[in-house]
Amino acid sequence: MLWQKNSSQRIESFDVGLKSPTVLGVSPVSFLVSSRAKKVTTHVLQEMKRTGEKIAMLTAYDYSLARLVDGAGIDVILVGDSASNVMAGNDTTVPITLDHMIYHAQCVVNAVDRALVVVDMPFGSYQGDSKLALKSAIRIMKESGGHAVKIEGGKEIVDSIKRILTAGIPVMGHLGLTPQSIYKFGTYSVRAKEEEEAERLLEDARALQDAGCFSIVFEKIPADLAKRVSESLDIPTIGIGAGADCDGQVLVLHDMLGITKDFSPRFLRRYADLGEAVDGAVRGYIDDVRKGDFPSDQESY
Ligand code: KIV
Repeated sequence: MLWQKNSSQRIESFDVGLKSPTVLGVSPVSFLVSSRAKKVTTHVLQEMKRTGEKIAMLTAYDYSLARLVDGAGIDVILVGDSASNVMAGNDTTVPITLDHMIYHAQCVVNAVDRALVVVDMPFGSYQGDSKLALKSAIRIMKESGGHAVKIEGGKEIVDSIKRILTAGIPVMGHLGLTPQSIYKFGTYSVRAKEEEEAERLLEDARALQDAGCFSIVFEKIPADLAKRVSESLDIPTIGIGAGADCDGQVLVLHDMLGITKDFSPRFLRRYADLGEAVDGAVRGYIDDVRKGDFPSDQESY
């Protein structure tokens, strides 16, 4: 049982079942698993995989944008460690700390009514030490109110995943290009193009599923490999630069909104040009202030 945000109502159950349409003319959308779920849970995502309904996931790091993203009906919000690049201007995700991630997650959780909020475990908060991993995951859940954690890596982190799961914390995996290991890879290029690395990725994906992950993100891997792995797993897969056959897709919000201008990988589709819009608005404001056109009498007391 969960508390409904901003009210004292308890949610007794999540309505995720599909019913056959009985009335002709009813929009099929009303029969989608996602549109019927009052709150998106890991069970809803599993049901979406079962029925073949695609999962839409975006990042967010602050209250105002998370409020808009949740209101628009996104299924999953990832408080990604890409906050290190997008929010803090770092070159990599390595510097962001557990405290930073908890702060961003708190801001997002305050905004969200419906989406599942997944919080990235940052570099240094879980590698090589399953007890540290559990402690970090508990801090994230307790201090931010997030609903699940995401963790990068394959077989080498299975102990950490299993230990986190002992506390009842849902874990999302992340394979392929794992940015926290950028200094090992040396580049942000496509991963698992060769058969040997592709086989390793398949084994890692199975190991994560067997360990109990509820979903796995595949970043920058060939589309046919992502299709093969997605079809072979029971849990939903989410792709970024991994083709159309994953069970869902994720993009970094600031990239798809056109706020980050200096990042244009092939997989990125821009749905807006907020960079241009902000630039135009700020220039207009500066102009008006300099000319004495702002504020007008109507905008004054
Ligand atoms: O941190 C992030 O934004 C991510 C996505 C790219 C999947 O991990």
